[in-house]
Amino acid sequence: MLNGKYALITGSSRGIGRAIALKLAAHGVNVAIHYYNNEAAANDTLLQVRQRGADGLLLQADVTKPQDISRMFSQIQDKFSKLDIFVSCARPDIQTFYRSPMEITLDRWRAALDSQAFLIGTQKATSLMPEGGRIIAITYSSSGRTGSWQLWAAMGTAKAALDSLCRYFAVALAPRGITVNGVSPGCIFGEPNMVEGGVLRSLPQAFQEATQNWHESGWIPMRRLGTPVDIANAVMLLCMNEASLTQVK
Ligand SMILES: NC(=O)c1ccc[n+]([C@@H]2O[C@H](COP(=O)([O-])OP(=O)(O)OC[C@H]3O[C@@H](n4cnc5c(N)ncnc54)[C@H](OP(=O)(O)O)[C@@H]3O)[C@@H](O)[C@H]2O)c1
Repeated sequence: MLNGKYALITGSSRGIGRAIALKLAAHGVNVAIHYYNNEAAANDTLLQVRQRGADGLLLQADVTKPQDISRMFSQIQDKFSKLDIFVSCARPDIQTFYRSPMEITLDRWRAALDSQAFLIGTQKATSLMPEGGRIIAITYSSSGRTGSWQLWAAMGTAKAALDSLCRYFAVALAPRGITVNGVSPGCIFGEPNMVEGGVLRSLPQAFQEATQNWHESGWIPMRRLGTPVDIANAVMLLCMNEASLTQVK
């Protein structure tokens, strides 16, 4: 049902973004794979996209730089001419923003708030979606609710703003047949490496083990941690035609 559609997935060189790219490719979607530094990992995602029978291309951009985001969408226009799906998944690496609220500097604060590429990205993406489309932000709603993960203060605030912006765009774009959703994972652990594992694999081993034990002991009723593939499945369902209220007669 998604066969022949075109998608851009930011941050698809690694982690959750890569899993989304591979899931959509398995359903016949051609994928623009975005990366920041790690061209080799992005190339590997592209190889795996092609192994699933879809096609794609690579795009490099720093999502904190508006001119980079604009350039990325110009390249999509040149190569794909249109876009059906935009998934905003990239997030700068942890060292650029990881500080408690009492220690954070304005530089790190801004790095987090400028990090989602969602405002400009959505404005640009919709200009390539004349016949409707899907826009999905990977947020982290729970991070901003309790304030308990102090070092996540800036990113938790940025993700709370992202949740909110999704709702504003959802209202603005519904008349055009473009759905806007946020997908908010809990703790996601992929394979124990930095390419497939997600950001939590970059934290100390003791943190990883404590998180794993806590979730498996019953915090999660299914007694297992979420994986990048779980999130990719949710995104794939939101991309289906049936996920649009405009289809209901
Ligand atoms: N992992 C979790 O437990 C979890 C939970 C809730 C929400 N999320 C959200 O899910 C998304 C993906 O998380 P993840 O853990 O899978 O990510 P990840 O493995 O840390 O990968 C980060 C991705 O973002 C790209 N990136 C890094 N800095 C960038 C920059 N300045 N400009 C553009 N792209 C940049 C990286 O590109 P390179 O490979 O080129 O460096 C990579 O593709 C994030 O938005 C995150 O907040 C994750």
